[in-house]
Amino acid sequence: MTDVFMNTYHRLPVTFTHGQGVWLTDAAGNRYLDFTSGIAVNCLGHGHPSLVKAVSDQAARLNHVCNYYQSDVSAAFAEQLVAACAPAGMRKVFLANSGAEANEGACKIARKYSLKKYGPGRHIIVTLKGSFHGRTITTLSATGQDKFHKDFGPFTEGFRFIPAGDITALEQALDQTSVAGLLIEAIQGESGILPQGAAYIEAAAKLCAERDILLMFDEIQCGIGRTGTFLACEAYRVKPDIVTLAKGLSAGVPSGAVLAGDKAADVFETGDHGSTFGGNPLAAAAGLVVLETVNNPAFLKGIAGKGDRIRAALHSWNHPRIKDIRGRGLMIGVDIASPAWDILEAALAKGLLILSAGANTLRFLPPYIITDDEIDQGLDILKGIV
Ligand SMILES: Cc1ncc(COP(=O)(O)O)c(C=O)c1O
Repeated sequence: MTDVFMNTYHRLPVTFTHGQGVWLTDAAGNRYLDFTSGIAVNCLGHGHPSLVKAVSDQAARLNHVCNYYQSDVSAAFAEQLVAACAPAGMRKVFLANSGAEANEGACKIARKYSLKKYGPGRHIIVTLKGSFHGRTITTLSATGQDKFHKDFGPFTEGFRFIPAGDITALEQALDQTSVAGLLIEAIQGESGILPQGAAYIEAAAKLCAERDILLMFDEIQCGIGRTGTFLACEAYRVKPDIVTLAKGLSAGVPSGAVLAGDKAADVFETGDHGSTFGGNPLAAAAGLVVLETVNNPAFLKGIAGKGDRIRAALHSWNHPRIKDIRGRGLMIGVDIASPAWDILEAALAKGLLILSAGANTLRFLPPYIITDDEIDQGLDILKGIV
């Protein structure tokens, strides 16, 4: 392994060279069953034939054009993405490259919406403790976990954290005179696959609507079909003002998006925002394959069913070391009475890739194309280790 990378990641001792379906192969030729999807990115697995063809064809045709112009493929991607998010009330999109960049865009829209309507001073974005919104200074400022804040201040001002699930705290924090937006993950991914309850989300939506505060869902990890609906927020009876997406959006080609409904769709004016690679044709070509594959009722039902299969199997073990099993669709968290990292290392040695989310939580984010047989193979390996 090379040592020229900056020391930012706790990397495991394996170097991958290629992948096919849910299987990755390392430099020595060993195969690994992938229950991670590159942290919710490779939602169609590795080497998906339609994705490979779309990206290769697009690379040969046109791989970048600056945003002074439109490309046919990014326009088609934008239209299909807005259509896929229309059930959640979305009407327009800004295309970006990453989750952090999408969340930056969302914060800018909330601030400008509020400034134009109410004047200065109403710029706070409320977020939840335990949230994760990205690694740029502003999205770190939005992230409600102290461990990420150490050493990097001063931060962007104007963020307020409240405990998740506490409706009273929400009522107090969403102060109509100072707050522009509420940014929320329907299922908190990085802090342990923690779903928000329906009563909480519905209360948040009601308060935001009454107080004209933008309700913004960060669906960077839980969106794009991961939970069995195209957007995770579709599971609640709410319509957000903004949704951010990235990770699985282009299934492995860097891609992100900020979508907005009626209130926020026309806030940005010419020159307000931009991104060199946003809407890049390669990402758009890949994204079109994702949308065509995933945004289909039968496919989404399949994701939900596969998730149910994993959870049912884990419950059936009735294992004393397994303390809790959470999540929806193929976004699953398992609390375990041992260090999650030890299990992750042991699984790697046996050819299974899984993730942790916090010290004692295992996280499964397998590709949507995983078969029942592959699910059972992975769980057999895990059972042996647990
Ligand atoms: C919920 C959520 N928001 C934002 C981000 C940041 O995305 P990116 O790493 O693409 O900037 C992540 C990444 O893990 C995430 O899970």
